[in-house]
Amino acid sequence: MTPGIKPLVAGNWKMNGTSASLGEIGAMNTGFDAGLQQKIDMLVCVPATLLFQASEVARNGRLQTGAQDCHARSSGAHTGDISVAMIADAGGSAVIVGHSERRADHGETSEAVREKAVAGLGEGLQTIVCIGETEEERKGGKTLDVLKEQLALSLPDQWQGGELVVAYEPVWAIGTGLTPTADDVAEAHAFMRAELVGRYGEIGNAIRLLYGGSVKPGNAKELMAVANVDGALVGGASLKAADLLGIAAAYLEI
Ligand code: 13P
Repeated sequence: MTPGIKPLVAGNWKMNGTSASLGEIGAMNTGFDAGLQQKIDMLVCVPATLLFQASEVARNGRLQTGAQDCHARSSGAHTGDISVAMIADAGGSAVIVGHSERRADHGETSEAVREKAVAGLGEGLQTIVCIGETEEERKGGKTLDVLKEQLALSLPDQWQGGELVVAYEPVWAIGTGLTPTADDVAEAHAFMRAELVGRYGEIGNAIRLLYGGSVKPGNAKELMAVANVDGALVGGASLKAADLLGIAAAYLEI
C-alpha cells in the first residue's frame, strides 16, 4: 500500500475465454460491491474478441474492462493488430503493454513498449506497463539493474491523457505458483518508486505500482500489504469471479 493511492486489482485473462465465460464478468461486476469499491478499483483485461461484450456486461457497474496489448499507430496496414481507439470504441478503459509474454513471444523491445504506452496514454486509457526480471537475471543478482533499464526504456518521458500504471511481474513467478518473499517485493517496489520520483518528481509518488505473479486469494493479503504495492495484476486467478473477488477481499482486512 502507499498512503493516498487507491489500489487497483486487475485481471489479465491472457488467451483464455470465449463468450461462454461472460458469466464470470457478470459475477465480478456484481461482486464488486460498494464496500470493495470504497477500497479499490477493479479491472479485467480480456481477449480483444471479448472486449465489447465484456464491456456491455459491466456497463452498469464499476468494474472496468481493458485489452492486453495495442499497436502504437492509430490505423493502417497492420494485420491482426488493434489500435487504442478500437479498444476505447469497444468499451475498454485500459490496456496492458509490455507483458513479458509479449516481450518473449513477439520480440517486443522496451522501446516498442514505450511507443505503445504513449499511444495508450494519448487515447486516455489507463496504461499498465509491465516489467520484471527472468529467473536467470534474479539468480545473477541483476534484478534491480533489469528493472532500472526496463523502466528507463519502457516508460514515456512525459504524457497526458490516461493514467500510467507500472506492474512488476517477475517472469519466474508468472503461472508457476512461486512468489518472491514480501521483503523481495518490498525491495523491488521501493526501488521502482525511487526511480519514478527521480525521473518524474512528485508525480512519481502517485503512480500505482502493481505486483503480478501467482497472486491468489491465499497470498493476496501478505503481498498487497507490502509498502509501495498498490494492487495486483492477476493471471490465472482472474479467470474465476470467486478467485478475483477473493483477492480483492484482502483489502477489507489490510
Ligand atoms: P499468474 O497470476 O497466472 O501468475 O499471471 C500473472 C500475470 O502474468 C498477469 O499479467
